[in-house]
Amino acid sequence: MRTVDELIAGGVQGRRVFLRADLNVPLDDSTGDPVITDDGRIQASLPTLQALREAGARVVVAAHLGRPKGAPDPRYSLAPVAARLSELLGVPVPLAKDTAGEGARAAVAALGDGDVVLLENVRFEAAETSKDDDARGALADRFAALADVYVDDAFGAVHRKHASVYDRATRLPHAAGRLVARELEVLTRLTEDPRRPYVIVLGGSKVSDKLGVIEAMLPQVDRLLIGGGMCFTFLAARGHGVGDSLLEQDQVDTCRRLLETAGDKIVLPLDVVCAEALIADAQVTVALVEGIPDGLKGLDVGPRTVELFAEHLSGAHTVFWNGPMGVFELAPFTAGTRGVAAAVAAVEGLSVVGGGDSAAAVRQLGLDEDAYGHISTGGGASLEFLEGRELPGLAVLADGAS
Ligand code: 3PG
Repeated sequence: MRTVDELIAGGVQGRRVFLRADLNVPLDDSTGDPVITDDGRIQASLPTLQALREAGARVVVAAHLGRPKGAPDPRYSLAPVAARLSELLGVPVPLAKDTAGEGARAAVAALGDGDVVLLENVRFEAAETSKDDDARGALADRFAALADVYVDDAFGAVHRKHASVYDRATRLPHAAGRLVARELEVLTRLTEDPRRPYVIVLGGSKVSDKLGVIEAMLPQVDRLLIGGGMCFTFLAARGHGVGDSLLEQDQVDTCRRLLETAGDKIVLPLDVVCAEALIADAQVTVALVEGIPDGLKGLDVGPRTVELFAEHLSGAHTVFWNGPMGVFELAPFTAGTRGVAAAVAAVEGLSVVGGGDSAAAVRQLGLDEDAYGHISTGGGASLEFLEGRELPGLAVLADGAS
């Protein structure tokens, strides 16, 4: 896989570089004026961007934001991202009027050496995410007309077979950006002979999103600690009542089978923080998992669980954590995620935080990012990588057609 540094060494002065980045950041638009609540992904894209600028490239940045329905929608405009990029780079970063049309062509034509333009959200084009190879290919051709070379630094999107991630790379010389290279280097240490004990902590709301990774990872890990909304389907599978907590009834049998076959590796919460409603001033009750009251929802793991998880983590030499332990955005339900984040940070060995939500939790809770071995920008991408699946965006970079 060619890297952007090799590309730069070959000379990019004056060349138009199409840089696919993952700038899919969380926005708070409750005031009508969208505010970026965590700019981690923008920060992570800077090393490649800066290196290309310093080498005199004309950088055409392409990115997605959220999941618009294949047509322009102002709620998903990359305007706030262009403004933040501009602040961080200290140079104007204009936002093209469209993704790959007249506006994009005009903005690219206006670039001087070392300049940067951000194309509007690639998902404003229906073909970006299409299952139809020809439709994606036609969009990739329009992207290709905007630049001479392709660099993929969108690690968080490499699991998507999308026009700007996959098809675009097949059309022009291509290279992996610094972020993609760094993510691969660290995540490969998790898949190739990790130091043991190897402990994975999974949270987040939906168990159905994580069953694939759980099945794939169980044979590889020593312990799998499960918190977050997804733990309730496992608790139900163990025979506990879960009150009004999130429950995916259709997944209970699968969770039961996993507990039967690998129950010694799976560690579930002992207690949970419950409330009637998901509100910032909720009255909370801590309940043992054997006695979650009817009418209450479990919204965070409790203190005994944090202690139990911390015990397992303290002996680990390799840790991967994906997904918050509760609704950490609201004060009454922060402690579980904070406690587990602290225990992961204290690990003596390699600790990797994966996924937008857990990475955002680390930053929003004011925890020291440097205490972790690596904070991955990829959520689904890092999980699929660990599962051992082929990721289209990486496969196409590795094919050597550059
Ligand atoms: C992410 O947020 O994990 C990446 O940006 C990919 O976004 P997607 O799940 O909408 O494809």
